[in-house]
This record gives sequence, C-alpha cells and structure tokens, in this order.
Amino acid sequence: MRILGIESSCDETAAAVVEDARTVVSSVVASQFDVHGKYGGVVPELASREHLRAIVPVVDEALLKSGTRLEDLAAVAVTEGPGLLGSLLVGMTFAKSLCMAHDIPLIGVNHIEGHIHAVLLEHAAVQLPAIALVVSGGHTHLFHADANLQYKLLGKTRDDAAGEAFDKVGKLLGFGYPGGPVIDMLAPYGNPRAVKFTFAKMKGNTLDFSFSGIKTAVLRWTEARDLSVQLAARKVLLATNSRPSTEQWLAVTPKETLDLVASFQFTVIEEMLRRLHILVDQHDAQSIIVSGGVACNTGLREAARRGGFPCPVYFPTPGLSTDNAAMIAAAAFPKLARREFSGFDLKAKANLTLA
Ligand code: KG4
Ligand code: ZN
Repeated sequence: MRILGIESSCDETAAAVVEDARTVVSSVVASQFDVHGKYGGVVPELASREHLRAIVPVVDEALLKSGTRLEDLAAVAVTEGPGLLGSLLVGMTFAKSLCMAHDIPLIGVNHIEGHIHAVLLEHAAVQLPAIALVVSGGHTHLFHADANLQYKLLGKTRDDAAGEAFDKVGKLLGFGYPGGPVIDMLAPYGNPRAVKFTFAKMKGNTLDFSFSGIKTAVLRWTEARDLSVQLAARKVLLATNSRPSTEQWLAVTPKETLDLVASFQFTVIEEMLRRLHILVDQHDAQSIIVSGGVACNTGLREAARRGGFPCPVYFPTPGLSTDNAAMIAAAAFPKLARREFSGFDLKAKANLTLA
C-alpha cells in the first residue's frame, strides 16, 4: 500500500511516496535556502509564496518518480502542524483538494511525530518503549514512546530550539543561514574544552532545556573581541559562494573562533546526552531515537555512539533528519491501519502539540 506524504510546515516544500511504512519509493524536497539565506532566517511571507510556487511540481515529481497513479494511493498524508500557519495552509489546502477531487482518504500528521517516524521507517530493529529526542530549528522535545506509540512529553526547551541556537550563533559569527551545518563542519578543528560554558540549571522540570544562556555567552564573547576583519572576510566569502567548503571557511576563521565553535557544539551536545542518560535509566527504555535537523550533526552522532548508553541509539540518514515528506507518509501508516482518517474540516495548527 502506498501513501503520498505532503510537508510544508516551514521552508521546505516536500512530497514523497512511501510503501508499507518501510520503503521510500520517492522523496522530493524543494529547499528555500536561496530565498531565506540572505535574510539570516526564514521569512514567513516569503515561505508561503515559495510553497505556492513549488507544491504542484514537487507533488508531480514525487508521483512520477515513484510511478504511482493517484488511484493507487491508499491515502494522502499531510502535515497539520506545528509550523508556520501560512506555510502549513498551502500543503493542507493542496492535500484536501487532491483528496476531494480523486476521492482519496486524507490523514493529518503531526510534524513532530513525523520526525520520530523517520527513524522507525529506516530502522526495523527499533524496540519500544523508546526515549525520543526531536531536535530541529523549531523544536527541542524529549518524549517517552510506549509500545503503542503513545507519547508522553518529558522535557522541552523553554526558549530557543537547539537548531535555533546553532543558527543564531552562526549568524553572530557571520556563517550565514543556516549556521548549524557550518558549525558542525568547523567544530572538529577547534578545542571543545577551550571555552568553558556553564550548563543550563533548570528550576522545576530539570529535563527541560534552555539555550538562551549559551547564546548570550557567545554574544558576550564576540563583544569582547574585535572580530571585524574575520567577519568582513566571511561576508566576502558568502557573497561569492552561498555554500563555501570547509577549506574556504577555515581560511577565514582563526583558531580562537574555531575553539569557540567547538566549545559551543560540545556544550549543546552534552546538554542532550545528559538528559538522555537520565531518561533511559528512569524509564528502562529499549531504544533511543534522535531526529530532526540537528540530528544531522556529526558531533552528536559520534558522541551518541561513544556515549555508553545501555540501549541502541538510532538516527535517520541525514536526508530524512531534516524536513521531508517521507516521514509524514510513514507516520500515517498506523493511522491508516486504524482507519483514522481526517475530515475536510481538518485545520492547520501552528501550535499543535504531541502528547
Ligand atoms: O528539521 P529541520 O529541517 O527543520 C525544522 O523543523 O526546524 O531542521 C533545521 C535545523 C536548522 O536549525 C539547522 O541549522 C539545523 O537543523 N541543522 C543542524 C545541522 N544540519 C541542520 N544543526 C547542527 N548540525 C548540523 N549538521
Ligand atoms: Zn522539522
């Protein structure tokens, strides 16, 4: 059975066809990187406009590449939230129209649950119950997933999401947008213990995250130095090349800045690993699932591998870690099995929660 997934919650227009919850038959992602890059972050109005432009060709391509006809679809799954309302509405309206016109069942999917299913889709070996960490530009959430994939929220960020912290630090240092991948690229060249950042001390739920402190510490670090020469050099680099190579970044980034980058990444990763250790012990979890854009981070993957966890840690491949529609289609399969279809009154919900 095949489901067409449609995802448009932020700055990626995506469509994918997934078969039997396990096989990605096609996955198309149109990134708006070039549109938002020069503004240093996602501009919601521009994002909706780009989704409108991309949605028809992206869905067409996903169907064509997979050799799927609309009448072959068991359902169309669409992200109902959370995300940018104007962006969500494009995918939602398109999916409803398709379903209405061709008499196909519609299934609304929570974007965060989609990120968790990106892991289940690729790793048949995942045992439940699991602890799931969803870390992206919009979310930093810890969940307990029981044997029936019912979720309990165990912790979340009280301010910035982890990816947002990477992007803000990247912006402060002139690495362009998104900063996460550049910081990941440069961190191995610095000393992760050179700058001693303090770990967030959380009152109340100590499993919650806070990244505003470390972001401010990086700001103070930049204010205490004259970075004008290196910032100007990076600006010139970005003006000539929107995706510089590691060597090009290294040529305009002194050791002291590389040390800062490495220390920042090390601290953020430690914040995540510490909480995962506590939760795995508390809940006797069989697996750890890490997903979302920040799950692409090579430092995090390595640290998790070496982390001494009593159970396996599963990550999606990088293409399924960042926003995509295969994860949305995959998350719809259990709902299809339960015949949990959505009506055409399904609403896009910017603040939709999971659990
Ligand atoms: O999941 P995603 O594509 O979109 C959201 O739902 O937010 O995640 C995008 C986020 C951005 O903040 C980006 O900087 C971050 O994921 N990211 C990374 C890496 N690749 C993407 N952060 C750290 N290291 C990376 N390699
Ligand atoms: Zn996401």
